[in-house]
Amino acid sequence: MSDLYLRIVNTPVGKTAAQSLGLPAPVPLERLKRTDQPFIEGNVLVGAADGGKAIAALGNTLGASAAVLHHASGNSSLSDSSKAGNKARPLDLSAENSETFSALVFDATGLKGPGELRALYDFFHPTIKKLGRNARVLIIGQTPSSCRRPPQAAAQQALEGFVRSVGKEIGKKGATANLLWMSPGAEEQLESSVRFFLSPRSAYVSGQVVRIGKSAASPTINPVAPLTGKIALVTGASRGIGAAIAETLARDGATVIGLDFPSTMAELEKVTTAINGKPLACDITDADAPGMIADFIEEHFGGVDLVIHNAGITRDKTLGNMPEHFWEMTIAVNLTAEELIDEKLIQRELINENGRIVCISSISGIAGNFGQTNYSAAKCGVIGYVEAMARQMKNGMTINAIAPGFIETQMTAAMPITIREAGRRMNSLSQGGQPVDVAEAIAWYCNPASNGVNGNVVRVCGQSLIGK
Ligand code: NAI
Repeated sequence: MSDLYLRIVNTPVGKTAAQSLGLPAPVPLERLKRTDQPFIEGNVLVGAADGGKAIAALGNTLGASAAVLHHASGNSSLSDSSKAGNKARPLDLSAENSETFSALVFDATGLKGPGELRALYDFFHPTIKKLGRNARVLIIGQTPSSCRRPPQAAAQQALEGFVRSVGKEIGKKGATANLLWMSPGAEEQLESSVRFFLSPRSAYVSGQVVRIGKSAASPTINPVAPLTGKIALVTGASRGIGAAIAETLARDGATVIGLDFPSTMAELEKVTTAINGKPLACDITDADAPGMIADFIEEHFGGVDLVIHNAGITRDKTLGNMPEHFWEMTIAVNLTAEELIDEKLIQRELINENGRIVCISSISGIAGNFGQTNYSAAKCGVIGYVEAMARQMKNGMTINAIAPGFIETQMTAAMPITIREAGRRMNSLSQGGQPVDVAEAIAWYCNPASNGVNGNVVRVCGQSLIGK
Protein backbone atom coordinates (compact mmCIF):
# COMPACT_ATOMS: atom_id res chain seq x y z
CA MET A 1 0.00 0.00 0.00
CA SER A 2 1.31 3.44 -0.80
CA ASP A 3 2.09 6.42 1.41
CA LEU A 4 1.77 9.38 -0.97
CA TYR A 5 2.82 11.95 1.65
CA LEU A 6 6.09 10.09 2.31
CA ARG A 7 6.89 10.17 -1.41
CA ILE A 8 6.00 13.83 -1.88
CA VAL A 9 7.90 15.01 1.16
CA ASN A 10 11.04 13.32 -0.15
CA THR A 11 11.09 15.38 -3.33
CA PRO A 12 13.09 18.67 -3.17
CA VAL A 13 9.92 20.80 -3.48
CA GLY A 14 7.96 18.68 -1.00
CA LYS A 15 10.78 18.81 1.54
CA THR A 16 10.97 22.60 1.42
CA ALA A 17 7.18 22.91 1.69
CA ALA A 18 7.04 20.52 4.68
CA GLN A 19 9.85 22.44 6.42
CA SER A 20 8.22 25.83 5.94
CA LEU A 21 4.83 24.53 7.14
CA GLY A 22 6.36 22.68 10.12
CA LEU A 23 5.02 19.33 8.90
CA PRO A 24 6.78 16.01 9.60
CA ALA A 25 9.33 15.00 6.97
CA PRO A 26 9.76 11.24 7.43
CA VAL A 27 12.91 9.66 6.03
CA PRO A 28 12.25 6.58 3.82
CA LEU A 29 13.43 3.48 5.67
CA GLU A 30 16.17 1.29 4.24
CA ARG A 31 15.10 -2.34 4.16
CA LEU A 32 17.03 -5.47 3.22
CA LYS A 33 17.80 -5.60 -0.51
CA ARG A 34 19.63 -8.92 -0.74
CA THR A 35 20.05 -11.76 1.75
CA ASP A 36 23.84 -11.70 1.36
CA GLN A 37 23.93 -7.99 2.27
CA PRO A 38 26.25 -7.27 5.26
CA PHE A 39 24.18 -6.69 8.40
CA ILE A 40 25.95 -3.39 9.05
CA GLU A 41 28.35 -1.18 7.13
CA GLY A 42 29.96 2.24 7.69
CA ASN A 43 31.44 3.56 10.92
CA VAL A 44 30.29 1.76 14.06
CA LEU A 45 31.33 3.01 17.48
CA VAL A 46 31.27 0.64 20.46
CA GLY A 47 31.69 1.57 24.06
CA ALA A 48 31.31 0.04 27.50
CA ALA A 49 30.71 1.23 31.02
CA ASP A 50 33.31 -0.12 33.48
CA GLY A 51 32.86 -3.83 34.11
CA GLY A 52 30.87 -4.42 30.91
CA LYS A 53 30.30 -8.14 30.34
CA ALA A 54 29.12 -7.98 26.73
CA ILE A 55 31.88 -5.87 25.18
CA ALA A 56 34.07 -8.79 24.08
CA ALA A 57 31.10 -10.58 22.46
CA LEU A 58 30.08 -7.33 20.74
CA GLY A 59 33.65 -6.88 19.50
CA ASN A 60 33.59 -10.41 18.02
CA THR A 61 30.26 -9.93 16.24
CA LEU A 62 31.07 -6.46 14.95
CA GLY A 63 34.70 -7.28 14.18
CA ALA A 64 33.45 -9.91 11.72
CA SER A 65 31.05 -7.45 10.05
CA ALA A 66 31.59 -5.13 7.08
CA ALA A 67 31.66 -2.11 9.41
CA VAL A 68 34.66 0.06 10.22
CA LEU A 69 34.81 -0.53 13.95
CA HIS A 70 35.90 2.08 16.49
CA HIS A 71 35.94 1.88 20.27
CA ALA A 72 35.43 4.90 22.51
CA SER A 73 38.52 6.33 24.19
CA GLY A 74 39.58 9.56 25.87
CA ASN A 75 37.13 9.25 28.79
CA SER A 76 37.94 7.38 32.02
CA SER A 77 34.32 6.16 32.52
CA LEU A 78 34.60 4.29 29.18
CA SER A 79 38.01 2.67 29.58
CA ASP A 80 36.61 -0.89 29.24
CA SER A 81 35.62 -0.03 25.66
CA SER A 82 39.09 -1.23 24.60
CA LYS A 83 37.96 -4.81 25.38
CA ALA A 84 36.13 -4.76 22.04
CA GLY A 85 39.21 -6.46 20.57
CA ASN A 86 41.97 -5.48 18.20
CA LYS A 87 39.66 -5.02 15.18
CA ALA A 88 38.35 -1.84 16.85
CA ARG A 89 40.41 1.35 16.47
CA PRO A 90 40.34 3.86 19.34
CA LEU A 91 38.34 7.04 18.73
CA ASP A 92 39.01 9.86 21.17
CA LEU A 93 35.63 11.27 22.22
CA SER A 94 37.23 14.25 23.96
CA ALA A 95 38.64 15.49 20.62
CA GLU A 96 36.87 16.90 17.56
CA ASN A 97 36.22 14.22 14.96
CA SER A 98 34.26 14.19 11.77
CA GLU A 99 32.96 10.62 11.51
CA THR A 100 29.30 9.95 10.74
CA PHE A 101 28.11 6.77 12.45
CA SER A 102 25.84 4.05 11.09
CA ALA A 103 25.55 2.65 14.62
CA LEU A 104 26.37 3.46 18.23
CA VAL A 105 26.53 0.29 20.36
CA PHE A 106 26.95 0.50 24.12
CA ASP A 107 27.53 -2.21 26.71
CA ALA A 108 25.85 -0.93 29.87
CA THR A 109 25.86 -4.29 31.70
CA GLY A 110 28.56 -3.02 34.08
CA LEU A 111 26.43 -0.19 35.53
CA LYS A 112 26.11 -0.83 39.27
CA GLY A 113 24.25 2.26 40.44
CA PRO A 114 22.67 5.55 39.37
CA GLY A 115 25.97 7.47 39.71
CA GLU A 116 27.46 5.34 36.93
CA LEU A 117 24.70 6.30 34.47
CA ARG A 118 27.02 9.19 33.66
CA ALA A 119 28.81 6.76 31.28
CA LEU A 120 25.74 6.97 28.99
CA TYR A 121 26.12 10.72 28.78
CA ASP A 122 29.87 10.43 28.21
CA PHE A 123 29.37 8.01 25.30
CA PHE A 124 26.28 9.43 23.59
CA HIS A 125 26.53 13.18 24.17
CA PRO A 126 29.51 13.73 21.83
CA THR A 127 28.28 11.23 19.22
CA ILE A 128 24.49 11.26 18.93
CA LYS A 129 24.36 14.23 16.54
CA LYS A 130 26.73 12.36 14.23
CA LEU A 131 24.31 9.53 13.54
CA GLY A 132 23.55 9.13 9.84
CA ARG A 133 20.16 8.46 8.20
CA ASN A 134 18.70 5.05 9.05
CA ALA A 135 21.35 4.60 11.74
CA ARG A 136 21.07 2.38 14.81
CA VAL A 137 21.50 2.84 18.55
CA LEU A 138 21.75 -0.43 20.46
CA ILE A 139 22.33 -0.76 24.20
CA ILE A 140 23.05 -3.99 26.06
CA GLY A 141 22.04 -4.06 29.72
CA GLN A 142 21.44 -6.64 32.42
CA THR A 143 17.86 -7.76 33.11
CA PRO A 144 16.88 -5.74 36.22
CA SER A 145 15.16 -8.72 37.89
CA SER A 146 18.52 -10.52 37.90
CA CYS A 147 20.26 -7.66 39.77
CA ARG A 148 20.87 -8.47 43.42
CA ARG A 149 21.34 -4.89 44.64
CA PRO A 150 18.60 -2.22 44.27
CA PRO A 151 20.98 0.50 42.98
CA GLN A 152 22.13 -1.84 40.21
CA ALA A 153 18.49 -2.69 39.32
CA ALA A 154 17.73 1.06 39.26
CA ALA A 155 20.60 1.78 36.86
CA GLN A 156 19.67 -1.11 34.59
CA GLN A 157 15.98 -0.16 34.55
CA ALA A 158 16.99 3.43 33.73
CA LEU A 159 18.27 2.17 30.38
CA GLU A 160 14.69 1.55 29.27
CA GLY A 161 13.68 5.18 29.73
CA PHE A 162 16.91 6.34 28.13
CA VAL A 163 16.47 4.18 25.02
CA ARG A 164 12.81 5.11 24.57
CA SER A 165 13.73 8.81 24.69
CA VAL A 166 16.69 8.42 22.33
CA GLY A 167 14.36 6.65 19.86
CA LYS A 168 12.06 9.66 19.92
CA GLU A 169 14.96 12.06 19.32
CA ILE A 170 16.54 10.20 16.39
CA GLY A 171 13.39 8.91 14.65
CA LYS A 172 13.32 11.93 12.35
CA LYS A 173 16.48 10.56 10.71
CA GLY A 174 14.80 7.19 10.12
CA ALA A 175 17.09 5.90 12.90
CA THR A 176 16.11 3.48 15.68
CA ALA A 177 17.11 2.80 19.30
CA ASN A 178 16.64 -0.52 21.11
CA LEU A 179 17.74 -2.27 24.31
CA LEU A 180 18.79 -5.87 24.90
CA TRP A 181 18.56 -6.93 28.54
CA MET A 182 20.64 -10.05 29.00
CA SER A 183 20.65 -12.49 31.89
CA PRO A 184 24.05 -13.03 33.54
CA GLY A 185 26.09 -15.41 31.41
CA ALA A 186 24.00 -14.97 28.24
CA GLU A 187 26.77 -13.24 26.24
CA GLU A 188 26.88 -16.15 23.79
CA GLN A 189 23.17 -15.71 23.03
CA LEU A 190 23.47 -12.04 21.98
CA GLU A 191 24.69 -12.44 18.41
CA SER A 192 21.48 -13.09 16.46
CA SER A 193 19.75 -10.17 18.20
CA VAL A 194 22.70 -7.79 17.75
CA ARG A 195 22.72 -8.65 14.05
CA PHE A 196 18.95 -8.15 13.73
CA PHE A 197 18.78 -4.83 15.56
CA LEU A 198 21.74 -3.34 13.69
CA SER A 199 20.54 -4.47 10.26
CA PRO A 200 17.97 -3.06 7.80
CA ARG A 201 15.75 -6.03 8.80
CA SER A 202 14.71 -4.07 11.91
CA ALA A 203 13.91 -0.85 9.99
CA TYR A 204 10.52 -0.32 11.70
CA VAL A 205 11.45 -1.58 15.20
CA SER A 206 12.31 1.16 17.68
CA GLY A 207 12.02 1.82 21.41
CA GLN A 208 11.90 -1.91 22.15
CA VAL A 209 13.33 -3.92 25.03
CA VAL A 210 14.21 -7.59 24.51
CA ARG A 211 15.10 -10.02 27.29
CA ILE A 212 17.78 -12.53 26.35
CA GLY A 213 18.25 -15.54 28.61
CA LYS A 214 21.08 -18.01 28.98
CA SER A 215 20.45 -21.17 27.02
CA ALA A 216 22.28 -24.02 25.36
CA ALA A 217 25.14 -22.91 23.12
CA SER A 218 23.80 -21.02 20.08
CA PRO A 219 24.51 -22.78 16.79
CA THR A 220 26.66 -21.03 14.19
CA ILE A 221 24.50 -18.78 12.03
CA ASN A 222 24.24 -19.15 8.29
CA PRO A 223 23.37 -15.48 7.64
CA VAL A 224 22.06 -16.06 4.11
CA ALA A 225 19.70 -18.98 4.77
CA PRO A 226 19.39 -19.49 8.54
CA LEU A 227 16.15 -21.51 8.28
CA THR A 228 17.41 -24.14 5.83
CA GLY A 229 15.74 -27.49 6.53
CA LYS A 230 13.01 -26.00 8.74
CA ILE A 231 9.29 -26.63 8.22
CA ALA A 232 7.05 -23.64 8.96
CA LEU A 233 3.29 -23.38 9.45
CA VAL A 234 1.93 -19.86 8.77
CA THR A 235 -1.76 -19.19 9.36
CA GLY A 236 -3.58 -16.48 7.40
CA ALA A 237 -0.95 -16.76 4.64
CA SER A 238 -3.02 -15.81 1.58
CA ARG A 239 -2.42 -12.06 1.85
CA GLY A 240 -1.08 -9.11 3.86
CA ILE A 241 1.29 -9.79 6.71
CA GLY A 242 0.81 -13.57 6.50
CA ALA A 243 1.90 -13.70 2.84
CA ALA A 244 5.00 -11.60 3.72
CA ILE A 245 5.83 -13.97 6.60
CA ALA A 246 5.54 -17.00 4.30
CA GLU A 247 7.76 -15.36 1.66
CA THR A 248 10.36 -14.20 4.19
CA LEU A 249 10.66 -17.58 5.96
CA ALA A 250 10.96 -19.28 2.55
CA ARG A 251 13.60 -16.73 1.52
CA ASP A 252 15.55 -17.73 4.64
CA GLY A 253 15.40 -21.41 3.65
CA ALA A 254 12.22 -22.80 5.28
CA THR A 255 9.59 -24.95 3.59
CA VAL A 256 6.28 -23.25 4.31
CA ILE A 257 2.80 -24.67 4.87
CA GLY A 258 0.51 -21.71 4.16
CA LEU A 259 -2.88 -22.04 5.83
CA ASP A 260 -5.99 -19.97 5.12
CA PHE A 261 -9.78 -20.17 4.67
CA PRO A 262 -10.94 -22.51 1.87
CA SER A 263 -12.50 -19.45 0.17
CA THR A 264 -9.00 -17.90 -0.28
CA MET A 265 -7.49 -20.92 -2.07
CA ALA A 266 -6.74 -19.10 -5.35
CA GLU A 267 -4.71 -16.35 -3.57
CA LEU A 268 -3.15 -18.83 -1.14
CA GLU A 269 -1.97 -21.12 -3.92
CA LYS A 270 -0.37 -18.14 -5.67
CA VAL A 271 1.65 -17.43 -2.52
CA THR A 272 2.64 -21.04 -1.80
CA THR A 273 3.42 -21.93 -5.43
CA ALA A 274 5.82 -18.99 -5.70
CA ILE A 275 7.81 -20.23 -2.70
CA ASN A 276 7.54 -23.99 -3.31
CA GLY A 277 5.35 -24.31 -0.25
CA LYS A 278 2.16 -26.26 0.46
CA PRO A 279 -1.31 -24.74 0.82
CA LEU A 280 -3.65 -25.94 3.56
CA ALA A 281 -7.33 -24.95 3.38
CA CYS A 282 -8.73 -24.69 6.88
CA ASP A 283 -10.85 -22.49 9.14
CA ILE A 284 -8.78 -22.43 12.33
CA THR A 285 -11.91 -22.01 14.46
CA ASP A 286 -13.46 -25.31 13.32
CA ALA A 287 -13.60 -27.83 16.13
CA ASP A 288 -11.62 -30.37 14.11
CA ALA A 289 -9.00 -27.83 12.83
CA PRO A 290 -6.22 -28.64 15.35
CA GLY A 291 -6.48 -32.37 14.58
CA MET A 292 -6.63 -31.75 10.84
CA ILE A 293 -3.53 -29.48 10.95
CA ALA A 294 -1.66 -32.07 13.04
CA ASP A 295 -2.61 -34.87 10.58
CA PHE A 296 -1.43 -32.75 7.62
CA ILE A 297 1.92 -31.98 9.25
CA GLU A 298 2.47 -35.59 10.28
CA GLU A 299 1.57 -36.99 6.89
CA HIS A 300 3.63 -34.56 4.79
CA PHE A 301 6.60 -33.65 6.98
CA GLY A 302 6.58 -35.76 10.16
CA GLY A 303 6.86 -32.60 12.28
CA VAL A 304 7.08 -28.81 12.23
CA ASP A 305 9.77 -26.39 13.43
CA LEU A 306 8.13 -22.96 13.19
CA VAL A 307 4.50 -22.29 14.07
CA ILE A 308 3.38 -18.75 13.21
CA HIS A 309 -0.09 -17.79 14.43
CA ASN A 310 -0.81 -14.85 12.13
CA ALA A 311 -4.50 -15.27 11.14
CA GLY A 312 -6.57 -12.55 12.74
CA ILE A 313 -9.80 -10.62 12.33
CA THR A 314 -11.37 -7.45 13.64
CA ARG A 315 -15.12 -7.04 14.27
CA ASP A 316 -15.34 -3.49 15.64
CA LYS A 317 -18.32 -2.06 17.56
CA THR A 318 -18.56 -0.21 20.84
CA LEU A 319 -19.31 -2.70 23.59
CA GLY A 320 -22.97 -1.77 24.10
CA ASN A 321 -23.66 -2.17 20.38
CA MET A 322 -21.61 -5.29 19.81
CA PRO A 323 -23.51 -8.38 18.65
CA GLU A 324 -22.60 -11.60 20.45
CA HIS A 325 -21.12 -13.23 17.33
CA PHE A 326 -18.63 -10.32 16.90
CA TRP A 327 -17.34 -11.06 20.38
CA GLU A 328 -17.26 -14.84 19.88
CA MET A 329 -15.52 -14.79 16.46
CA THR A 330 -12.86 -12.28 17.44
CA ILE A 331 -11.81 -14.17 20.56
CA ALA A 332 -11.97 -17.52 18.71
CA VAL A 333 -9.73 -16.53 15.76
CA ASN A 334 -7.24 -14.27 17.52
CA LEU A 335 -6.74 -16.23 20.74
CA THR A 336 -8.50 -19.55 21.33
CA ALA A 337 -7.49 -21.16 18.02
CA GLU A 338 -3.79 -20.50 18.71
CA GLU A 339 -3.98 -22.16 22.08
CA LEU A 340 -5.87 -25.22 20.77
CA ILE A 341 -3.54 -25.71 17.78
CA ASP A 342 -0.43 -25.52 19.99
CA GLU A 343 -2.00 -27.87 22.52
CA LYS A 344 -2.66 -30.49 19.83
CA LEU A 345 0.78 -30.15 18.18
CA ILE A 346 2.56 -30.40 21.54
CA GLN A 347 0.39 -33.29 22.72
CA ARG A 348 1.16 -35.24 19.53
CA GLU A 349 4.87 -34.30 19.81
CA LEU A 350 4.86 -32.75 16.35
CA ILE A 351 6.90 -29.64 17.20
CA ASN A 352 10.54 -30.54 16.61
CA GLU A 353 13.41 -29.88 19.01
CA ASN A 354 14.40 -26.15 19.05
CA GLY A 355 10.94 -25.35 17.64
CA ARG A 356 9.61 -21.81 17.57
CA ILE A 357 6.08 -20.55 18.19
CA VAL A 358 5.31 -16.94 17.28
CA CYS A 359 1.97 -15.25 17.98
CA ILE A 360 0.73 -11.92 16.61
CA SER A 361 -0.60 -9.49 19.18
CA SER A 362 -1.29 -5.83 18.41
CA ILE A 363 -0.76 -2.35 19.77
CA SER A 364 -4.53 -2.43 20.37
CA GLY A 365 -3.89 -5.29 22.77
CA ILE A 366 -1.38 -3.16 24.69
CA ALA A 367 -3.03 0.27 24.64
CA GLY A 368 -6.71 -0.58 24.03
CA ASN A 369 -8.72 1.00 21.25
CA PHE A 370 -12.15 2.57 20.88
CA GLY A 371 -14.63 0.05 19.45
CA GLN A 372 -12.21 -2.86 19.86
CA THR A 373 -12.96 -4.36 23.29
CA ASN A 374 -13.16 -7.83 21.70
CA TYR A 375 -9.98 -7.49 19.60
CA SER A 376 -7.95 -5.78 22.36
CA ALA A 377 -8.98 -8.45 24.88
CA ALA A 378 -7.93 -11.21 22.45
CA LYS A 379 -4.62 -9.56 21.49
CA CYS A 380 -3.79 -8.79 25.15
CA GLY A 381 -4.68 -12.41 25.96
CA VAL A 382 -2.05 -13.43 23.40
CA ILE A 383 0.58 -11.67 25.53
CA GLY A 384 -0.53 -13.49 28.69
CA TYR A 385 -0.52 -16.78 26.79
CA VAL A 386 3.01 -16.25 25.41
CA GLU A 387 4.44 -15.22 28.77
CA ALA A 388 2.94 -18.24 30.56
CA MET A 389 3.87 -20.71 27.80
CA ALA A 390 7.45 -19.40 27.73
CA ARG A 391 7.97 -20.72 31.25
CA GLN A 392 6.95 -24.23 30.12
CA MET A 393 9.04 -24.49 26.95
CA LYS A 394 11.26 -27.60 26.72
CA ASN A 395 13.70 -29.11 24.18
CA GLY A 396 15.12 -25.73 23.15
CA MET A 397 11.70 -24.44 22.09
CA THR A 398 10.79 -20.76 22.41
CA ILE A 399 7.56 -18.76 22.15
CA ASN A 400 7.39 -15.01 21.52
CA ALA A 401 4.95 -12.43 20.20
CA ILE A 402 5.04 -9.52 17.79
CA ALA A 403 2.72 -6.58 18.35
CA PRO A 404 2.40 -4.69 15.04
CA GLY A 405 1.47 -1.02 15.00
CA PHE A 406 0.23 0.64 11.82
CA ILE A 407 1.19 -1.67 8.95
CA GLU A 408 0.31 -0.83 5.32
CA THR A 409 -2.13 -3.65 4.40
CA GLN A 410 -5.61 -3.99 2.89
CA MET A 411 -6.94 -3.77 6.45
CA THR A 412 -5.38 -0.33 7.09
CA ALA A 413 -6.01 0.90 3.50
CA ALA A 414 -9.73 0.49 4.22
CA MET A 415 -9.62 2.94 7.17
CA PRO A 416 -11.06 6.46 6.82
CA ILE A 417 -8.28 8.80 5.65
CA THR A 418 -8.08 10.87 8.86
CA ILE A 419 -7.65 7.78 11.06
CA ARG A 420 -5.23 6.29 8.53
CA GLU A 421 -3.06 9.43 8.44
CA ALA A 422 -3.02 9.67 12.24
CA GLY A 423 -2.00 6.00 12.50
CA ARG A 424 0.80 6.49 9.99
CA ARG A 425 2.30 9.60 11.55
CA MET A 426 1.90 8.97 15.29
CA ASN A 427 5.21 7.21 15.75
CA SER A 428 8.86 8.22 15.99
CA LEU A 429 9.50 7.39 12.31
CA SER A 430 6.34 9.28 11.13
CA GLN A 431 5.30 6.54 8.71
CA GLY A 432 3.53 3.19 8.55
CA GLY A 433 5.39 -0.12 8.49
CA GLN A 434 5.36 -2.70 5.69
CA PRO A 435 4.23 -6.33 6.10
CA VAL A 436 7.86 -7.37 5.58
CA ASP A 437 8.85 -5.49 8.76
CA VAL A 438 6.69 -7.86 10.81
CA ALA A 439 7.99 -10.81 8.79
CA GLU A 440 11.64 -9.90 9.39
CA ALA A 441 11.09 -9.74 13.15
CA ILE A 442 9.46 -13.17 13.03
CA ALA A 443 12.41 -14.53 11.03
CA TRP A 444 14.74 -13.23 13.78
CA TYR A 445 12.69 -15.05 16.48
CA CYS A 446 12.82 -18.19 14.31
CA ASN A 447 16.58 -18.05 13.78
CA PRO A 448 18.17 -21.15 15.43
CA ALA A 449 20.64 -18.81 17.14
CA SER A 450 17.81 -16.83 18.82
CA ASN A 451 17.49 -19.63 21.38
CA GLY A 452 17.90 -17.21 24.30
CA VAL A 453 14.95 -15.09 23.11
CA ASN A 454 11.88 -16.49 24.86
CA GLY A 455 8.70 -14.93 26.27
CA ASN A 456 9.18 -11.53 24.60
CA VAL A 457 6.63 -9.18 23.08
CA VAL A 458 8.32 -6.93 20.55
CA ARG A 459 6.40 -4.11 18.91
CA VAL A 460 6.92 -3.50 15.22
CA CYS A 461 5.42 -0.05 15.28
CA GLY A 462 8.09 2.59 14.53
CA GLN A 463 7.83 3.42 18.27
CA SER A 464 4.16 4.32 18.21
CA LEU A 465 3.22 7.12 20.58
CA ILE A 466 0.39 5.04 22.00
CA GLY A 467 0.90 2.28 24.55
CA LYS A 468 4.15 1.50 26.32
P1 NAI B 1 -5.54 -9.53 6.79
O1 NAI B 1 -7.00 -9.41 7.10
O2 NAI B 1 -5.03 -8.91 5.53
O3 NAI B 1 -5.11 -11.08 6.78
C1 NAI B 1 -5.56 -12.01 7.76
C2 NAI B 1 -5.59 -13.37 7.14
O4 NAI B 1 -6.09 -14.30 8.12
C3 NAI B 1 -6.54 -13.43 5.93
O5 NAI B 1 -5.89 -14.05 4.84
C4 NAI B 1 -7.71 -14.26 6.43
O6 NAI B 1 -8.34 -15.02 5.43
C5 NAI B 1 -7.01 -15.15 7.48
N1 NAI B 1 -7.99 -15.68 8.45
C6 NAI B 1 -8.86 -14.95 9.21
N2 NAI B 1 -9.63 -15.78 9.93
C7 NAI B 1 -9.24 -17.04 9.63
C8 NAI B 1 -9.67 -18.32 10.06
N3 NAI B 1 -10.68 -18.48 10.92
N4 NAI B 1 -9.05 -19.41 9.56
C9 NAI B 1 -8.05 -19.29 8.64
N5 NAI B 1 -7.60 -18.09 8.21
C10 NAI B 1 -8.20 -16.98 8.69
O7 NAI B 1 -4.78 -8.98 8.06
P2 NAI B 1 -3.29 -8.41 8.23
O8 NAI B 1 -3.37 -6.95 8.26
O9 NAI B 1 -2.36 -9.07 7.30
O10 NAI B 1 -2.99 -8.89 9.73
C11 NAI B 1 -2.30 -10.09 10.07
C12 NAI B 1 -2.21 -10.20 11.57
O11 NAI B 1 -1.58 -9.04 12.12
C13 NAI B 1 -3.56 -10.32 12.26
O12 NAI B 1 -3.45 -11.18 13.38
C14 NAI B 1 -3.84 -8.89 12.70
O13 NAI B 1 -4.74 -8.86 13.79
C15 NAI B 1 -2.44 -8.45 13.10
N6 NAI B 1 -2.26 -6.98 13.09
C16 NAI B 1 -2.29 -6.25 11.93
C17 NAI B 1 -2.07 -4.87 11.95
C18 NAI B 1 -2.05 -4.01 10.70
O14 NAI B 1 -1.78 -2.80 10.81
N7 NAI B 1 -2.32 -4.52 9.53
C19 NAI B 1 -1.82 -4.18 13.22
C20 NAI B 1 -1.80 -5.04 14.36
C21 NAI B 1 -2.00 -6.39 14.29
